[in-house]
Amino acid sequence: MTWLQKHLDERDLARSLRADVREGLTATPKRLPPKWFYDARGSRLFEDITRLPEYYPTRTERSILAGNAQAIARITEAKTLVELGSGSSEKTRLLLDAMLRRGTLGSFVPLDVSESALVEAVESLGVAYPGLSITGVVGDMTRHLRQLPDGDSRVVAFLGGTIGNLVPSERAAFLGDLRAALHPGEWLLLGADLVKDPAVLVPAYDDAAGVTAEFNRNVLRVINRELRADFDPLAFEHVAVWDAEHEWIEMRLRSARQQGVRLTDLDLEVSFAAGEEIRTEISAKFRRDGLDAELSAAGFALRHWWSDPRGWFGVALAQAVTSDGTG
Ligand code: AVJ
Repeated sequence: MTWLQKHLDERDLARSLRADVREGLTATPKRLPPKWFYDARGSRLFEDITRLPEYYPTRTERSILAGNAQAIARITEAKTLVELGSGSSEKTRLLLDAMLRRGTLGSFVPLDVSESALVEAVESLGVAYPGLSITGVVGDMTRHLRQLPDGDSRVVAFLGGTIGNLVPSERAAFLGDLRAALHPGEWLLLGADLVKDPAVLVPAYDDAAGVTAEFNRNVLRVINRELRADFDPLAFEHVAVWDAEHEWIEMRLRSARQQGVRLTDLDLEVSFAAGEEIRTEISAKFRRDGLDAELSAAGFALRHWWSDPRGWFGVALAQAVTSDGTG
């Protein structure tokens, strides 16, 4: 059986895009949030990125999950699997298969901002897993965690390293909200990309084929279409830099020349100096100890930690605990 719960509609999304773009492009330095990369074309480009030789996170995380899905099912005895953000249905299936084999799982709850992506995922999983109750939740994981269907023995999977799109203060707020939505004893399965040699990190965000560059510029195409703007995407260069102090990758779009852009629906003109940059994404990289501390501060206890032989990606299994540390 499949269901859909909507906490967001096209008008909410349009309103938040307008607010984000106005705020970000009138700020100094200019910035745009990464969530607006993912229209249909952007989601396709991201799928292409996950297959690039330079982009190791997806295949590394998948191998960790393939090797440990059974252990995750045994440890958690999950009755409900919640997944924050979709686009990783292959990894989801590894978990669903293991949890179904274990015999505990009854329902799957994917949450995503994109209704179309969610409906597609829910329909194909409904066919593949006819016995499972599937409830798609259209929502924003930074705003709608409280609306997740209540349950017991839930496991919330937040995979792919997307936690790295949040700065530390945002991560603390997100993890705190998630903890508040869970009962003691329930679980968070968190995928996090780890700090490593910048010679590996930077090419993962600046591939030779230029797919990431197109993905980055896609946000300008989204703004052109949705807000009737006249960005020339090719007048912006893709930039990926490793910020060693914050231990994050920053993606930027650098204006190739002095230029003005008109955003009709915002009644806004924005000017760019030659070389001026828009920050479009941070992708923070983690260390086990740092993540352990962030999880503890939010009321989670790190119970298991899995990595790959090179130590490039980490999967944490953490349990919601009360302040005296009990699950
Ligand atoms: C989907 C947020 C995990 O940060 O690696 C890929 C997005 N950006 N290449 C990441 C992304 C550039 C990706 N996440």
